[in-house]
Amino acid sequence: MELIVLGAAAGGGLPQWNCAGGQSSAVWNGKRPAQTQASVAVGNQHDGYVLINASPDLRQQILQTPQLHPSSQHANGVRNTPIKAVIVTNADVDNVAGLLNLREKQAFDIYGPTKVLNILAENSIFAVLDPEFVTQRPLDTTETICPIDGLEIELFTVAGKAPLYLEESLGTESGDLGFTSGIEIRTELGKTLVISSCAQIDQKLLERIQKADHLLFDGTVFEDDEMPRLGLGVKTGRRMGHLPISGTDGPIIRLAKCDLKTKRFFHINNSNPIWDDQSAAYKTIQNAGWDICHDGLVLEI
Ligand code: MLT
Ligand code: MN
Repeated sequence: MELIVLGAAAGGGLPQWNCAGGQSSAVWNGKRPAQTQASVAVGNQHDGYVLINASPDLRQQILQTPQLHPSSQHANGVRNTPIKAVIVTNADVDNVAGLLNLREKQAFDIYGPTKVLNILAENSIFAVLDPEFVTQRPLDTTETICPIDGLEIELFTVAGKAPLYLEESLGTESGDLGFTSGIEIRTELGKTLVISSCAQIDQKLLERIQKADHLLFDGTVFEDDEMPRLGLGVKTGRRMGHLPISGTDGPIIRLAKCDLKTKRFFHINNSNPIWDDQSAAYKTIQNAGWDICHDGLVLEI
């Protein structure tokens, strides 16, 4: 089974379309490659693939990933796809907007927390995913699904917040509202966790991470206030439901004793200095046994 990082960047991508600051500038200047918004595909060429989140860059991600191309020799004809299912972990724009690329009357399943699927149901633009072909399946956090042979997937709740675009209508600014989840992937080789949004590492999550082999973890910001400091926005990482990497309650310190085969940051914002392998922040994460994800990275899991 392989896990393909389709996109390693947080919302906005790297570079962000309207930003010449932070880490975006080195990409506009051709010094480092662009990175698309966070998503992974898990599966194999025989059984197909499951996407974890559908980023606004999904069309580009499919184009640049041969494993996700349709086949000209498929038993069902020329309209086909190896994408069997999409699991959405929360309703943020960068996790669901890519679903709109998957219209065209193609059968596949969408899984996600009930609250997240309800948000899709309330927004009529998602009706382009014709229910005659696309089945939406609310997932209980205690439930394990097996969307393709040899792959077990479990959703678990993570501390997070409501999508930014719903904060006003929900009358809330943040808090754990059951919108956010992580994914545990089990194969015959072991366990992989994908957690793109996390506001707190509690004991339960720590214990789950301790038992895993591979971890892709929320790497949105290195320091809580880096966006306002760099003139990239007014919000801190915590305000957006993301633990800063370098915080005393952040992943480097809280997960220091977790002896996994690999620990990588994922969903990395364009403000985050860890994109730069010459930065002190990158050296800090490397010394702590972490690395970063990048588009196209493949892990055997
Ligand atoms: C986040 O990860 O906090 C969100 O994707 C931000 C957003 O929706 O722009
Ligand atoms: Mn995001």
